[in-house]
Amino acid sequence: MVHPYRSVLYIPASRERALEKARELAADAIIFDLEDAVSPEEKVRGRELLARVLSSTDFGARARIVRVNGLGTEWAEGDLAAFGTHPGVDAVLLPKVNSGADLDAVGARVKAPLWAMLETAKGCLNASAIASHPRLEGMVMGTNDLAKELGARFRADRLPLMAGLGACVLAARAEGRVIVDGVFNAFKDEAGLRAECEQGRDMGFDGKTLIHPAQLEIANEVFAPSEAEVELARRQIAAFTEARARGEGVAVVDGRIVENLHVATAEALIAKAEAIAAVAV
Ligand code: COA
Ligand code: MG
Repeated sequence: MVHPYRSVLYIPASRERALEKARELAADAIIFDLEDAVSPEEKVRGRELLARVLSSTDFGARARIVRVNGLGTEWAEGDLAAFGTHPGVDAVLLPKVNSGADLDAVGARVKAPLWAMLETAKGCLNASAIASHPRLEGMVMGTNDLAKELGARFRADRLPLMAGLGACVLAARAEGRVIVDGVFNAFKDEAGLRAECEQGRDMGFDGKTLIHPAQLEIANEVFAPSEAEVELARRQIAAFTEARARGEGVAVVDGRIVENLHVATAEALIAKAEAIAAVAV
């Protein structure tokens, strides 16, 4: 069964208290961060702390993703040595991936599936090649870095980021990869977060990366199929099955046509709801 990625929470590897708390938080996945959220002075201590925590802590159904420092940095080798084959790591997330070659460069040192941050102009332009890399499992939008590189301004409708977001969703879906939207910085603005989650969900993202536990509930709700959606999906499948039994290829439910492609969507929606119920965090 597919793992849900509605809520993907960043936790700085240097924050012991936050790492401890993670076991109780309703996150589908956790990104243990060694990169942007950890200061240069804390990099080595954070790495050692995280390696210990991942060895000794049961995170339940939460996927454990470690974001290492970029390949050009002085910490990359140590990060890969510490987490590339660590049994407590479900995936290694590489920052600022520009091409498939960046994934090749770590391939041999990492046993777990690879995830890629899409947060550069080059990365977005090469999204298709990155998504098709055989080791890649998931993609994460780095919208703060992308906006910085583009010289784009923050807007509630995210219009300046749409070309990049859209290119990455297309690439992920073309290859059947997981894709998670970028963070919403104003972690006390619930209405703003909800609107951005809904926008990402409507575009096809699997979920949203989050920076604070207060954001979990909204992301979990918005990215899960609602009861009404599940109920409609069941009725569509039943109506289509009846239509097929009559030798017809199209059914009508609530005044809308249902063809076999809609049935596939309905089945995927029910599978997603079941996967969410199975993790029940
Ligand atoms: N994961 C898990 N727990 C977290 C957390 C996180 N990302 N952020 C905060 N918490 C915990 C705190 O430890 C605190 O727990 P406690 O009350 O039991 O001690 C509780 O949630 C409330 O925290 P709060 O005081 O509201 O926030 P803060 O001022 O301590 O931290 C941030 C605010 C933004 C600095 C912090 O949330 C953070 O570092 N987020 C992650 C940033 C990040 O990873 N960025 C990289 C990707 S963009
Ligand atoms: Mg970044």
